[in-house]
Amino acid sequence: MKKMKFTEAAPTAGLALTWRDFIPPLFSLHSKASLEAKLASFIGVDEAQVECSGTAALVVALEAIKMLSDRKHVVISAYTCPWVALAVIKAQLTPVLADSRPEHFDYCEESLKSVVNHQTLAIVHTHLAGRVADVEKTITIAKSVGAYVIEDAAQSLGAKLHHKSVGTFGDVGIYSLGVGKGLTIFSGGVVVSANEQIREALRRVSNHLPRNYLVELRRSIELIAYYFLYRPLGMGLAFGCHLRDKLKRGNLIEAVGDDCSLDFPLHKVGIWRKWIGAKAADRLPEFIEKTKNLAEKRLAKLTKISGVSVVLDVKDAQGVWPFFIVKMPSEEARDNVLDLLWNKGVGVGRLFIHALKDYEYLAPYFAGAKVQNAQAFAAHTFIITNCIWLSERDFARICDVISEQVAHV
Ligand SMILES: Cc1ncc(COP(=O)(O)O)c(C=O)c1O
Repeated sequence: MKKMKFTEAAPTAGLALTWRDFIPPLFSLHSKASLEAKLASFIGVDEAQVECSGTAALVVALEAIKMLSDRKHVVISAYTCPWVALAVIKAQLTPVLADSRPEHFDYCEESLKSVVNHQTLAIVHTHLAGRVADVEKTITIAKSVGAYVIEDAAQSLGAKLHHKSVGTFGDVGIYSLGVGKGLTIFSGGVVVSANEQIREALRRVSNHLPRNYLVELRRSIELIAYYFLYRPLGMGLAFGCHLRDKLKRGNLIEAVGDDCSLDFPLHKVGIWRKWIGAKAADRLPEFIEKTKNLAEKRLAKLTKISGVSVVLDVKDAQGVWPFFIVKMPSEEARDNVLDLLWNKGVGVGRLFIHALKDYEYLAPYFAGAKVQNAQAFAAHTFIITNCIWLSERDFARICDVISEQVAHV
C-alpha cells in the first residue's frame, strides 16, 4: 500500500460541545429544563435518572430489581462490553453467559433458552453500536421463566424500534453518557423504567449513593478537556498518541479501553456537568439525523465490497450510527486491515478485543461457558467510525484497503 496520510478522526461519532454549553442556565436564553427532564422527553418516558456512568446505571438497575426478587443469576451476552459483567459482579449477582447468534452480537435463541431458568433474575439485552437487536424475542424468553429484562442501550441512545426508543421495551433501560457516546458528560449514565415499583426502587438505590467531590472535579476537568480536544486538531493529542503507544507495545486491551476492573466509582453526578449535558442535549436530535444521513452514504460504499458484511438493525428499527461493525471473511483479512489502518488514527479499530470469557480478569467467572459464535465474532470484526469530520475521501480510501485485503486473502 502506498503511504497514506489521513486526517485524525474520532473513533466514534460523538456530539461536540460548544462554549455556549458552559453558560450557566441563569444567563442562558435557551430551555432551562434539567438534563433528567430533557432525557426523559427525548427517550419518551416519565422520568430519567442520571448516574455517574453507564456501568453505574446498570449497577443501580440490578440493585433495584434485587429488592424485588430473591433470584441471583443475570444472563449477559457473551460478546459485550466487559463493564457489563463487572456491574453484575459488583451487585453481588452471578453473571451467566449466553452465546450470540452467528455473525452477530445479538443472542442465539437456543443458547439463551438453555441458560435461563427459575434462578434467573434478569436478562441483559444489548443494543451495541447503535444497532437495534431483537429485544422482543428476549422478552418472550424472559417471560417464560419470570425474569426481568434490562435493556443495555449504552451505545444506542436515540435508537428506535417501531418508532419507540430502545431501552423502553424491557423492564429497565440503561444508556451511557460516557466519552465517545452521542451525548456525553465525560462519564455518565441514565436509567429508566416504565414500572412505578421499579422506579421507586431505582430512586432508593440512587439516593444512597455518596458524593465524591474528587472524582467529580476530575470528571469536570476532563469534560472541559473534551470541549477543547474533540475536534480534528485535538484528536491526535487526546486519542491518537495514546492509541499508537498502546499498539506499539502490543497492548490491544488497553488500546481499546477494555482494561476494566471492579474498582469503579459509584457516586452522585454534580450539577455543573448536568447543566452542560442539558445544554448539549438540545442538539442531540439534529446530530442523530446528520450522522444517520452520513451513515447511509457510507453504508452504500461499504456494502458494495463483496465478501464483507456490516451489522444492521432488526426489521422496523431506526438505529443510530456512532460507528459501523464490519465483518470480514477471515481473521487474517481482518488483521491485515487493522495492521494497515488502526495506528493511522483514522477511526478504524476494534470494538472489544475478546468474547467476555477470554479476558483474563473475567475468565474465572465463565469457565466452561461455550460461546464459539461470540469468539468468532470477536475474531472477524472491526469497526469504522462514523465521525462527522472523517472526509468521504478518507472513507473511500478505507473501503479500498478493505477491498484489497478481501481480494488478497
Ligand atoms: C454495551 C455497553 N454496556 C455498558 C457500558 C458501560 O458504560 P460506561 O462506559 O458509561 O460505564 C458500555 C460502555 O461503553 C457498553 O458499551
